[in-house]
Amino acid sequence: MKYYSIAIDGPAGAGKSTIAKKVAKHMNFIYVDTGAMYRALALYFIRNNIAATDKEKIENACNNADVTIEYKDGEQQVILNGENVSSLIRTEEVGNMASASSVYPAVRLKLVELQRSLAKKANVVMDGREIGTFVLPDADLKIYLTAGSMERARRRFLELKERGIEADINEIEKDIIERDSRDMNREFAPLKQAEDAILIDSSNLTIDEVAEKILNFIKN
Ligand code: DC
Repeated sequence: MKYYSIAIDGPAGAGKSTIAKKVAKHMNFIYVDTGAMYRALALYFIRNNIAATDKEKIENACNNADVTIEYKDGEQQVILNGENVSSLIRTEEVGNMASASSVYPAVRLKLVELQRSLAKKANVVMDGREIGTFVLPDADLKIYLTAGSMERARRRFLELKERGIEADINEIEKDIIERDSRDMNREFAPLKQAEDAILIDSSNLTIDEVAEKILNFIKN
């Protein structure tokens, strides 16, 4: 049986997960959030006091950290060694550790295997950094979703404000630029637009406008 896959790649804060969830719901596809998998492993490294610079310890830890995915009420849950850590991985600390530790091939290959196996079993919308270039090079539709760094910082700032968290927008932008640079410049499977991906800049678009654009590409 042929399963369809839609790959949505792009830098942090471009709106990938919100859009991917919407498109998946509309299409009745499964949404696969690959960032959550890197975040779950990052949480394991943090809990075990492993520095992102310690390649050997990170590689060894990969053998002891089991990451799996479950779906509850249609929402992806990420399970680390039997514990549902979905609500613990959304912090800046975990995000930065995920970005720093995902440079290692051992970390990536472990999770890529899981990602590919999910796409073999169901129709998926998968978001990440290198889904269209490396994880699912034969995806049926590839989108590269981006937005200016200040616009991404503004969105993050508003999201934090809504949760009652004070933050400095310039610090957030600095963090975003650093994360982009790390994700784009790593040697193994860096963040880049696939040659056959459609570029969407969401800086001046609403979530619904972006989702509609993608749904139109699917129809066509
Ligand atoms: O999308 P996110 O913010 O949850 O991802 C956190 C980090 O994980 C990101 O900065 C880089 C890494 N990541 C990756 O290397 N490859 C992916 N497919 C997804 C995330």
